[in-house]
Amino acid sequence: MAKLWGGRFTKETNKQVDAFTASIGFDRQLAKEDIEGSLAHVQMLGECGIVSTDEAETIQNGLKTILSKIESGNVEFLTEHEDIHMNIEKMLIDEIGAVGGKLHTGRSRNDQVATDMHLYMRKKTKRLIELVEHVQYALLSQAKENIETILPGYTHLQRAQPISFAHHLMAYFWMFERDKDRLRDSLKRINWLPLGAGALAGTTFPINRERVAELLDFDFVYPNSMDAVSDRDFVVEALSICSLIMVHMSRLSEELVTWSSQEFQFVELDDAFCTGSSIMPQKKNPDVPELLRGKTGRVFGHLVGMLTVLKGLPLAYNKDMQEDKEGIFDTVETLEGALDLLAPILETLTVKKDNMRKAVTQDYSNATDMADYLATKGLPFRQAHEVTGKVVLYAIEQGKYLLDLTLAEFREFSSLFEEDIFDILAPENVMRARHSQGGTGPDQIKVQIQLAESKL
Ligand code: ARG
Repeated sequence: MAKLWGGRFTKETNKQVDAFTASIGFDRQLAKEDIEGSLAHVQMLGECGIVSTDEAETIQNGLKTILSKIESGNVEFLTEHEDIHMNIEKMLIDEIGAVGGKLHTGRSRNDQVATDMHLYMRKKTKRLIELVEHVQYALLSQAKENIETILPGYTHLQRAQPISFAHHLMAYFWMFERDKDRLRDSLKRINWLPLGAGALAGTTFPINRERVAELLDFDFVYPNSMDAVSDRDFVVEALSICSLIMVHMSRLSEELVTWSSQEFQFVELDDAFCTGSSIMPQKKNPDVPELLRGKTGRVFGHLVGMLTVLKGLPLAYNKDMQEDKEGIFDTVETLEGALDLLAPILETLTVKKDNMRKAVTQDYSNATDMADYLATKGLPFRQAHEVTGKVVLYAIEQGKYLLDLTLAEFREFSSLFEEDIFDILAPENVMRARHSQGGTGPDQIKVQIQLAESKL
């Protein structure tokens, strides 16, 4: 089949080369963006007198016809035409005749594909911001229901200090808030327009790049044509932000898996979001959080893949850069699916408050408060820590928890202990006493939740 670039060739392309170099199998996803960019380009060509206004209109109508055919699934994309850009250009020429060949005036596929990628990234970044926010809403609504829900807080996965479940959930809220912020910030750089850079050096035609930027709603025109066609930083940035979002989802998923185990029994996932076992009838498996955790690997892979593709590439465009697409497409699809499931999983989560409460009565996570108590009474904290450590050791040996000891037993270790130590050590009081800014005390959580609401 005749190539759009066939002029200087005397032989047909080897079929395997066609298949190996073609990107139509995946860049067909960019059809809409490609046409959007072309519509703006030809509008500008018409306005600048590079093509006549009639020609511009004919081309625009042809492009719109092709778009509606693509949207109704009414077209066949051909590997022989390599990529989405040439498939559409070929369709255009078939649709409106030779005048269609004027579309590519003053343009190259190099600035065209870069523009398509910017348009795609802008659309998807906005969508990801929305989806991250859905997860934040879910976290916030669970948090509001659980301000007074007390459970062990862990460090090193060892019981550390009692905390509020709301506080634990809100920690994730703020991770996602930073992710959202990063996505929003990345839009600044996504909104740079490459079109008009030509193949690499600009063009001899009197084009108006600012006008194209205005038509496509870009904030800034790449000031250097070589950078414009070679830059995929915005793809790396998106992959990196998506990787971090996956990290956050994965950490939360790990907690959901742990908390829903028989050993913890802190939460129960809704039946609708779990699966069973083909052999063990009793099983209810947290497959979704497990896969959220697992899919993190492929997203990291795409990030490293893209960095590796770009490393060492000379300026300007190189075919290697076609490898920017599948990784980011798969990443976006993975995140869309993952975020879309995480929100309802959190919303439908059953919180087993009694089990959480029971856990903090069966540990030594109130020990810090005993040390703080002694320190408040004037004992240097280091000594208070030592005394408390001895009390804990004694209690463990007796097979008791701190609250099971008598005042007389406490006083064996320090005469500073008085009757009020029992109140101090009650788990609820331990949690409530953390009034410091950003702490787990319910008064502070309420402040935090108010701030969180102002972010949505
Ligand atoms: N399919 C190509 C890509 O995705 C489009 C640009 C090709 N340019 C070229 N001169 N071969 O990068």
